[in-house]
Amino acid sequence: MAKTFYVTTPIYYVNAEPHIGHAYTTINADFLARWKRLDGYDTFFLTGTDEHGEKIAQAAARAGMEPQQFVDEVAAKFKKAWEILHISYDDFIRTTEERHKKVVRQYLQEIYDRGDIYYGEYEGLYCVGCERFLTEKELVDGKCPDHGVEPELRREGNYFFKMEKYRAWLRDHILKNPGFIRPERYRNEVLSILSEPIGDLSISRPKSRVSWGIELPWDPEHVTYVWFDALLNYVSALGYPDGERYRRYWPAAQHMIGKDILKTHAVFWPTMLKAGEVEIYKHLNVGGHLLADGRKMSKSLGNVINPFEWSAKYGPDAVRYYLLKETPYGLDGVVSEAGLVERYNADLANDLGNLLQRVRTMVIKYRGGVLRKREPGEGEAGVVAAASGLADRVRGLIDELKFNQALEEVLQFVRSLNRYVNERAPWKIKDEEDLDRVLYTVVDGLRTAAVLLEPAMPVKMAELRRALGLGELSVADVSGWGGLPDGHEIPAEAPILFPKIETKNKQQAGREEEEEERTPTIQYEDFAKLDLRVALVKSVEKHPNADRLLVIRLELDGEERTVVGGLAAHYQPQELVGKRVVLLANLKPRKLRGVVSHGMLLAAEGADGTLALLTPDREVEAGSKIS
Ligand code: MSP
Repeated sequence: MAKTFYVTTPIYYVNAEPHIGHAYTTINADFLARWKRLDGYDTFFLTGTDEHGEKIAQAAARAGMEPQQFVDEVAAKFKKAWEILHISYDDFIRTTEERHKKVVRQYLQEIYDRGDIYYGEYEGLYCVGCERFLTEKELVDGKCPDHGVEPELRREGNYFFKMEKYRAWLRDHILKNPGFIRPERYRNEVLSILSEPIGDLSISRPKSRVSWGIELPWDPEHVTYVWFDALLNYVSALGYPDGERYRRYWPAAQHMIGKDILKTHAVFWPTMLKAGEVEIYKHLNVGGHLLADGRKMSKSLGNVINPFEWSAKYGPDAVRYYLLKETPYGLDGVVSEAGLVERYNADLANDLGNLLQRVRTMVIKYRGGVLRKREPGEGEAGVVAAASGLADRVRGLIDELKFNQALEEVLQFVRSLNRYVNERAPWKIKDEEDLDRVLYTVVDGLRTAAVLLEPAMPVKMAELRRALGLGELSVADVSGWGGLPDGHEIPAEAPILFPKIETKNKQQAGREEEEEERTPTIQYEDFAKLDLRVALVKSVEKHPNADRLLVIRLELDGEERTVVGGLAAHYQPQELVGKRVVLLANLKPRKLRGVVSHGMLLAAEGADGTLALLTPDREVEAGSKIS
């Protein structure tokens, strides 16, 4: 029987229209689902919408609509959005569907009957944006860091789930299963949450205040807390507890989420499962955020980029490829239209599209479209070596969630095919057999690339296959050189796969930059513009894409920052942890090899080029201003 794979996206709140943050998470999940299908797994891919709770009821009221009508409309927009981006979900669950509500009621009743739910009073700081109580520690300047608003103090009678009771078990589970929460930094974050009491979880809201939700089966005066309701979608959609899909796919579950909902998925959800005596999911895969102007994109911040406009302009695959390739999964990324165009032109129009054009032209011109398989010779050694094991390398990287590197691996291969064509120069070859050999090798290589890039670009790779006269293929069909049959014929006509996107004159842009770079003497007011702060180094990692760089996590004034610095040649990551350093805090965020840096650490450069970080000469609190 085929191996199974189950992947989910978060179910999205319908108070906002689909935006790039949703698209990013969903594209990552779709990429994984498509890859697994191509790689022979019996795959199930779930997405959907989270339609209950206060924030949805408020949004419906603002729109002057009944909640049900409102959620129906927005849920339809999500479906439309996923159609535009070619998201291959197998099911779309809505929490207002009866199949879901039934499971929520049943699950609540089960753990209530077991004694894991009790009634009590609760007072705390509630953020409606997050739909949860925040702890004092989570606040920045008294505000929710994700929504920029002060949470409300609330006191009310609620039902509680005995979450604290499962804390020790959960910690142990995470320690015993290193890949349970990935990447590692998020696992550490969760372990740190679990090193202190987590308290019990309020799982109901009085109906007098929030009526848009699922009634508790034993007390109709209360509705289910929206997170308790929402998380259960992952099993309700499979037909928990005795559905065939549930039995088949749940044991292979992997959730893909954004880092903003780590606590709910890594703490609430597993303890809920444990209380219901349900097997715990296999992996929680945590993605970073895409940022615009250095901040999370969200409707409440008003800085939303519209991926559907990009898709209309450049096609869905260009958007998918760009989002997957640009940012290492798990880290924050900055995206822009200019970035998309640059990536598209370099990788897709130049490297891949041109190669296809060139080789098609030659096969048609020299061979009337027919390829002959000739055993590779010395000249092919490089390409043969690069093709061999390529699918395995890509699989390995995808299994480690290194999607951008997996794509880069294939692009490297495409570049090696380009070099091969240039070196072998088929237009100069006199030996007929040798000419066959070269043309075959390039088309065979493109065939491999088409399969391995398909999870990222399903539409374009189907076109690429058609341009080469190929039907559907799977990963098993591309294990090294020579998968293409002898005598294969390519069609005479095919559209241009990736037409180049014209951009503004580069030289002119370069001159503008140079002008700006000249540094005159400055006025005090200029210096005063610098927000220099003492910051405490919390953790340091090597940059995933650059040997020279370190990714440094800092704390200042309760706020967290990530800074990327060229310090790898000067410090070991561990050496820096606990140091107090000087941060230029208001530097415009910049992306360095895919990781966004929010500021810059000050360092002195010795005559021999060694760097020494500046530190205050006595202990001052992190966050202190420097003037
Ligand atoms: N409804 C909850 C999830 C319940 S799952 C049982 C929710 N919905 S949400 O619509 O607010 O956002 C869900 C996810 O969207 C985030 O976790 C994240 O994956 C993604 N993103 C929203 N904004 C984002 C960015 N700016 N960048 C990347 N992804 C972000 O939370």
